[in-house]
Amino acid sequence: MNETAKDFDGIAETAWSLLAAGAGDRRHAMHTPVVASVDADGLPQARVMVLRAADAAAATLRFHTDARSPKVAELAGRPVSVLAYDPAAAVQLRLSGIAAVLGDDPVADVAWAASTPFARRCYLAEAAPGTAAPEPTSGLSAAIEGRKPSLDDLAPARPNFAVVVVTVTRIDWLHLAQGGHRRALLTRQDPGWQGQWRVP
Ligand SMILES: Cc1cc2nc3c(=O)[nH]c(=O)nc-3n(C[C@H](O)[C@H](O)[C@H](O)COP(=O)(O)O)c2cc1C
Repeated sequence: MNETAKDFDGIAETAWSLLAAGAGDRRHAMHTPVVASVDADGLPQARVMVLRAADAAAATLRFHTDARSPKVAELAGRPVSVLAYDPAAAVQLRLSGIAAVLGDDPVADVAWAASTPFARRCYLAEAAPGTAAPEPTSGLSAAIEGRKPSLDDLAPARPNFAVVVVTVTRIDWLHLAQGGHRRALLTRQDPGWQGQWRVP
């Protein structure tokens, strides 16, 4: 481990650049982190979500979801854990923070407008995600399944779309190396991060 690794701000910077790379590149390992919450029964719930944006300055991560999905109630205003691992960098990030769900909101309007028609089509599902179905189904009507939807087709889907913003307050950074693993716990100070080495 070189000298710069002792610089916790530097570790935070590399962590956020990995997350930004994940958000920007669909082939990057950090494109699909696991987002974990706790459900109404107190049970842990983890699921893969596409990372849409990572803002180092604001310490936020952005995800998209169906406003009707069970995870929304588990995430809105609540503590969450986001887990990402990049084998190329040999870095695991365990991020903790608080989630906000934005539906009828300018942030969601912008994200909706920037999504492709095929991405937006998912939100046309007639029943909420997780609804029991009598047979295998995409949830889309036969009229819309298997074709590119028009803007008119997509208009009714907008209320089903929501943005999840996670404000990160802690990063557990783990770097795997043959010569010895390294681990640091970073706590957000705004500005910057306070760090503490941990035994891996
Ligand atoms: C590669 C991959 C990417 C996914 N991306 C998203 C996503 O961006 N947003 C989302 O809500 N669900 C996404 N999912 C589906 C979730 O993992 C989950 O199955 C679904 O949202 C239902 O979760 P819930 O019952 O906890 O609400 C993705 C699944 C996979 C396998």
